[in-house]
Amino acid sequence: MEFDRPDGAAEALRAGAFLLRMPDDLDPAPGLDLCRRFYLPPVPGDRYRGHREHGHPASKLGYEDRPDQVEQLQIEAHLWQRYFPEEVTSLLERMEEITGTALHALLSAAGVPAGDADEALGGHHGGLCYTTVNHYRGDLDRRVGIVEHTDSGYITLFHADQPGFEVLDNGRWTPIELPERHFVVNLGDAFDVLTRHLPHPGTAVLHRVAAAGPGQPDRSSFTIYMGPSYGMVLRQYTSDGELVDYQSFRDFSVAKAARMGYQFHDRI
Ligand SMILES: [Fe+2]
Repeated sequence: MEFDRPDGAAEALRAGAFLLRMPDDLDPAPGLDLCRRFYLPPVPGDRYRGHREHGHPASKLGYEDRPDQVEQLQIEAHLWQRYFPEEVTSLLERMEEITGTALHALLSAAGVPAGDADEALGGHHGGLCYTTVNHYRGDLDRRVGIVEHTDSGYITLFHADQPGFEVLDNGRWTPIELPERHFVVNLGDAFDVLTRHLPHPGTAVLHRVAAAGPGQPDRSSFTIYMGPSYGMVLRQYTSDGELVDYQSFRDFSVAKAARMGYQFHDRI
């Protein structure tokens, strides 16, 4: 991963969000197709449609109609092949690789010693990777597309087909322009906790999606999320560079939900 500016990595860590150009041979179209069709009634043989009704019995996540404009489908990486068309799975697997590369580059830029990253990320306990497929319904009269929040994991990468994404930067809500053929990368709570006392800490960026007005086309976005699993303990570097246990990710998530005023649903 290369930044356009010499201070790019430091700025990305400080802001907790940045744009990443797609590789030239990557085609995001199957992902956008899924965003535009997953909620349509099922048609036999069409694996893009029918996900509202599907149930996804092997998944602990699945379909959710949220109280804001978005309805979404969340599926763990090991189930993509089972539930999605082949070209969607290939695209998501490619994006998972890119997300992992970006995560390791950012850990290194934050000051995580070379060779330490796997242990810092929880080692053999493994983490959690899933996609979220979002349909923002412009015709729903709701206050926001998606309410302000920080992501809980280490990193989230997404592609969207139109603007609406906003981050809180230096105390101001800032709309982010989405140039053609770019991903947005966000840092989440687990990265923030891990690197808080390192030379270049990463910020869990507060972000939201503005509501689309009536008559505007529906917005589509799809993401790759990487974080700890709920059975894992969040780790943190001390200012002396020692890697210690911080708090169980489950306890952290319960406390965060209480702070933000929502109920923690332990689905994973
Ligand atoms: Fe988010």
